[in-house]
Amino acid sequence: MVMKKHRFTNFHLLIFTLFICACTPRESGDIHSKQQQIPHLQKQGETTQLMVSGEPFIILGGELGNSSFTSLEYMQPIWPKLKAMELNTVLAPVYWELIEPEEGRFDFKLIEQLVRQARVYDLKLVLLWFASWKNSMSSHAPAWVKKDQTRFPRVNDDQGKSHEILTPFSENNLHADLKAFQALMKFIREIDGNDHTIIMIQVENEIGMLPTARDHHPLADQRFRESVPDELIAYLLKNNEKLVPEFLQVWAENGFKTGGSWETVFGEGSHTDELFMAWFYAKFVQEIVQSGKAIYPLPMFVNAALNRPGREPGVGYPSAGPLPHLMDIWRAGAPAVDFLSPDIYFSNLKHWSDLYIRQGNPLFIPEHRFDETVAAKAAYTVGHYEGMGFSPFSIESTDDPQNNPLGKMYRLIHQLAPLITAHQGRHRIEGVLVDKETQENVFVLGDYEFCFRHSYTLGYEEKAKDDVWDMAGAVIVQTDAREFYIAGHGITATFKNLINPNLNVGILKVDEGRFDNRRWQVIRHLNGDQTHQGRHIRLFYDEFSILRLELYDYE
Ligand code: DGJ
Repeated sequence: MVMKKHRFTNFHLLIFTLFICACTPRESGDIHSKQQQIPHLQKQGETTQLMVSGEPFIILGGELGNSSFTSLEYMQPIWPKLKAMELNTVLAPVYWELIEPEEGRFDFKLIEQLVRQARVYDLKLVLLWFASWKNSMSSHAPAWVKKDQTRFPRVNDDQGKSHEILTPFSENNLHADLKAFQALMKFIREIDGNDHTIIMIQVENEIGMLPTARDHHPLADQRFRESVPDELIAYLLKNNEKLVPEFLQVWAENGFKTGGSWETVFGEGSHTDELFMAWFYAKFVQEIVQSGKAIYPLPMFVNAALNRPGREPGVGYPSAGPLPHLMDIWRAGAPAVDFLSPDIYFSNLKHWSDLYIRQGNPLFIPEHRFDETVAAKAAYTVGHYEGMGFSPFSIESTDDPQNNPLGKMYRLIHQLAPLITAHQGRHRIEGVLVDKETQENVFVLGDYEFCFRHSYTLGYEEKAKDDVWDMAGAVIVQTDAREFYIAGHGITATFKNLINPNLNVGILKVDEGRFDNRRWQVIRHLNGDQTHQGRHIRLFYDEFSILRLELYDYE
């Protein structure tokens, strides 16, 4: 018996050793090769994931104020604030005027030092290329560009007046920007090709034409008289089934013409000026992005200053940016751009996000007004849209980063991120966003319909009597047929079985807890008053928590 056991053990030891020998190099090789992977986008089901070091990554971000990333000294007190708010990524500008102070002489010292600081704080960076255009203007062009208007021409308005905006119709303008961008990408490859601190690039910032819908520089006028490029017409014909309705309507109203000048194909008016301008901005950006990716292919995107509906392009908003009604033009003209993003300074995140997710465009919000709604909206972006990330603007402006609600929400999403990313693209994730106007969100996960309401609907909290309710939000992940994790605040939920409506649904168990190194730790088992004796789950407005919920059915 003993002998047998002994021989048996040795045999298994041998097998185990052979197994380890066979597996270890490959496994560690896999890990190594994963870490080597340049950040890239990848589809899982219907969701586009940002992969960083081989793992899906959700950007819990914040964008710095425009002039903060210009010195180590200025950034010094900011880094700890960002950490205190549980950010994992900073969106930080890099300025053409600072990196190329003289033509062809590049200075990346400051960026290198800032990247090193970001690593010390274990923060990733999305760099914003403030070059030819920053909020329509060309204020970040270097002095040698600004001072040579003959070589680097500006846009003209309809009165022939020039503005501090480089025209996209000039080859000189394109090549000056492109050379600097290539130098930047080379530098990033050199210092970050292994570390992957820099995970994406935003190319330019809020491109758009002001104060008229299109450029009237002679170079632009010449193009305007030419035919609509075949390349654009071919795209429209090929994709006519999925063009956005706002654009389709414009084309339809003019009889779906497939040849002729811009005004022949789309009709006369500022809408056509805008389409024309969007095409040439997109073509310019396409060249920049393509040349940068040829050196170091990080994901690259563009962002838009949103248009107030009903306003005139150029006058009421910067014309021709990567806006929802111009999606088709931007996609046709700049296919190398990975996605288009909204900068949301209006209150209705849902309205704008719904427009931006069309045609499979993944949602990343690089700027949102840093107001009291951002914690809830971050949860909704990650939950409902399975977005790539969220990032309020001027993130360093908070005086109390420790207690900022955004940080409390980011802490929860950070813990839940491995579960979220594992279940993305499979209808297992949802988001809640509620206030006084929209008190209830109803949705289905698996067999169950969830009715989430604002916790103020229960009437237990003092602020329930206020005229305006604080916005509350949550992320829900279904991890098994009857198992759900809910992270957020200010919500209450009840459940129905949709497959068999005759069955009642009860709470088998609900725990409040946290993930420590991906392991679920229960802090409190909730029942009694905390679940209204089994009738609902809830988190009060000031209670940022994660719940693990198990449901059951009964007759
Ligand atoms: C949007 C721009 O993209 C930012 O750089 C900044 O100028 C903000 N607007 C200011 O509100």
